[in-house]
Amino acid sequence: MKLWGGRFRKETDTLVNDFNSSIQFDSRLYREDIEGSLAHAAMLADCGIISREDQEKITQGLQGILADIEAGTVSFSTDNEDIHMNVEALLTQRIGPAGKRLHTARSRNDQVAVDLRLYLRREIDEITSQILDLIETVLTQAKRHQATVMPGYTHLQRAQPISFAQHLLAYGEQLKRDVTRMEDCKKRMNRCPLGSGALAGTTYPIDRQQTARLLGFDGPCSNSLDGVSDRDYAIELLGGLSILMMHLSRFAEEIILWCSWEFKFIELDDAYSTGSSIMPQKKNPDVAELVRGKTGRVYGSLMGLLTTMKGLPLAYNKDMQEDKEPVFDAVDTVKMCLPVFTGMLATMRVLPENMRQAAGSGFINATDCADYLAKKGMPFRDAYTTVGNLVYYCTQNGKLLEELCLEELQGISPLFEEDVYEALRLETCMGQRRSYGGPALEETSRQIQELTDFVKERAHA
Ligand code: ARG
Repeated sequence: MKLWGGRFRKETDTLVNDFNSSIQFDSRLYREDIEGSLAHAAMLADCGIISREDQEKITQGLQGILADIEAGTVSFSTDNEDIHMNVEALLTQRIGPAGKRLHTARSRNDQVAVDLRLYLRREIDEITSQILDLIETVLTQAKRHQATVMPGYTHLQRAQPISFAQHLLAYGEQLKRDVTRMEDCKKRMNRCPLGSGALAGTTYPIDRQQTARLLGFDGPCSNSLDGVSDRDYAIELLGGLSILMMHLSRFAEEIILWCSWEFKFIELDDAYSTGSSIMPQKKNPDVAELVRGKTGRVYGSLMGLLTTMKGLPLAYNKDMQEDKEPVFDAVDTVKMCLPVFTGMLATMRVLPENMRQAAGSGFINATDCADYLAKKGMPFRDAYTTVGNLVYYCTQNGKLLEELCLEELQGISPLFEEDVYEALRLETCMGQRRSYGGPALEETSRQIQELTDFVKERAHA
């Protein structure tokens, strides 16, 4: 007979039983479920709603169940529907009537809401620490490559010279915001729904501040209907994870390009590459491709849960049981992607000569040539046109700007002097970009320092 069997005169259809149950996927909430129940029981006893003796029995019973689940000696059953009823049934089996008092002034609706928040709060900490590890690796590589010139691109066309450090640090900034998104999400998530009851609170003199405190929340959710109804915290997390994956996916895409023969800016370590079953020469960036690929399923989880929630009247509806699989899958996916991505980045070999060579063609110093003329007094728009003509001349004659002789240059503008060759050197072009946030050494050093401080402030394990 079901825990809720009193009102029923028939057994649940076996198909319905399987269809309705969530124990297959929510069993992973066992720890949080027990944690919530321990706090609830302590509060009930403190408020005189159950006896101290019952609380002690409940506490011991729950601790025993926790130990047994962790030892792998407990088997859950679909007859008990979900983790909440499985634990409660086990408890009553083990300690008798006291177990039946645990659910006083509580509903599975506030129970599942508190479990999920507790669970996701932990996962957020773990993911945050993994992102910080990745940032540290970005920093390590960036420090090695502050003087490594590479082409910066727009439209995937060579645009202006930058350093490889500057390129990596751009991802560093994005990952930094991903960390703060996790932190913000956790802050909003950190309110306790326990004590909301089914939807309308309870007539028992419970102390919601106490359970919130015991469970490490900043306080209880203010409205009981809201407490059991919303899953915005899970959606917000999925949003943050989707943005994070979008960043990783772009980074992955560049790594895939960079290790192609067409670019050859980097080479991935053998331990982070795979071969082909037919083509003996192949070394494939599967890790990067899989990270890019898995981004889709995290977006899918976000879309799925948003869609699940969009038409639901307040308060709890069973549709909401569908929140767990997408959230769990997204969390698992991200936790798999981050460390392998970090390892791939930490072990990649950078090929600075190839980057320098790619930066050397494509007229990547054309803006600097125009700036040279503008600094000598020519209005920038005229300088722009002049250099445009020069580039055209070069393409017709198979030359680069710095390969033109002074006579050829002066034929176009008398403002050109000997110092133009220094101005056109890529190292000058990059090194002179000292504006705040630019690729010059001073500026990448500042960025490295700030990002290092950011990681240090969080002093993760
Ligand atoms: N397994 C359910 C879920 O995950 C728990 C809440 C059930 N509440 C209810 N009123 N049926 O949503």
